[in-house]
Amino acid sequence: MTSAPADPALVVDDVTVRYDTVVALQNVTLRLRPGRVCGLVGTNGSGKSTLFKTIMGLVKPTSGQVTICGTNPAVARRRTQVAYVPQAEAVDWNFPIGVREVVMTGRYGHQGFLRRPRPADHEAVDAALERVGMTALAGRQIGQLSGGQRKRVFVARAIAQGSPVLLLDEPFAGVDATTEHALTGLIRELAAGGHAILVATHDLAGLARLCDEAVLLQRQVLVHGAPDEILRPENLARAFGAPPPVNSVQTESYAQERARR
Ligand SMILES: Nc1ncnc2c1ncn2[C@@H]1O[C@H](COP(=O)(O)OP(=O)(O)O)[C@@H](O)[C@H]1O
Ligand SMILES: [Mg+2]
Repeated sequence: MTSAPADPALVVDDVTVRYDTVVALQNVTLRLRPGRVCGLVGTNGSGKSTLFKTIMGLVKPTSGQVTICGTNPAVARRRTQVAYVPQAEAVDWNFPIGVREVVMTGRYGHQGFLRRPRPADHEAVDAALERVGMTALAGRQIGQLSGGQRKRVFVARAIAQGSPVLLLDEPFAGVDATTEHALTGLIRELAAGGHAILVATHDLAGLARLCDEAVLLQRQVLVHGAPDEILRPENLARAFGAPPPVNSVQTESYAQERARR
């Protein structure tokens, strides 16, 4: 890790993003320190994926700036200081590439410009596949995997990359409870190892287990605090619109949000 523990690994400073007429993010400010998991919670269209893309430098902010380990997104990406697991819909699953090759692409930044994997790269890929429990399927094409297996492959790619900042866009979407549980454990382990992790999730019931802190996003940061604070009925109501019922706030709000999709 290049950052001292007290320094934020990721700084999003007053970022506004416009797509033509749509304001996707408005004056978003966020700091994330090494060793912390921050949940990103909000309805569809609230700007979560845009925030990830902006942090990666794939979308240019209209104003404001992003700093990763003290530098800008383009440089941080070149230095492999940031790893990104995109939302599943953003990936072409018909692309003919095997599990091992996908994970190896995470090592490109570590290889020479001829991109010839060295023993250390193979070791990192093996270790990452092992860590997500995908060793046995290393020879498969990604198109032949289940949704949960695909997620694990992309998480393995991020692990192999060895980046201090990890961005996970809805890693639990379409995965079964067992995989979600395993991924949550893995995310906690990675944070314990010093990674700073921003993770978008719709699973409010699992928020406290997953995160140290969370952001309620609705184009702007509505609340940034401990999971308990995010889950307060009045805060959820601000993000999800409908007044939450008195009982089982978490699951009800989640169901309402899902029903609107
Ligand atoms: N490439 C794009 N061009 C125009 N509008 C976009 C584009 N990507 C996202 N948007 C819009 O920006 C808003 C935020 O979208 P997004 O970041 O995907 O939200 P989320 O990931 O929370 O569902 C939405 O209104 C969406 O329609
Ligand atoms: Mg999204």
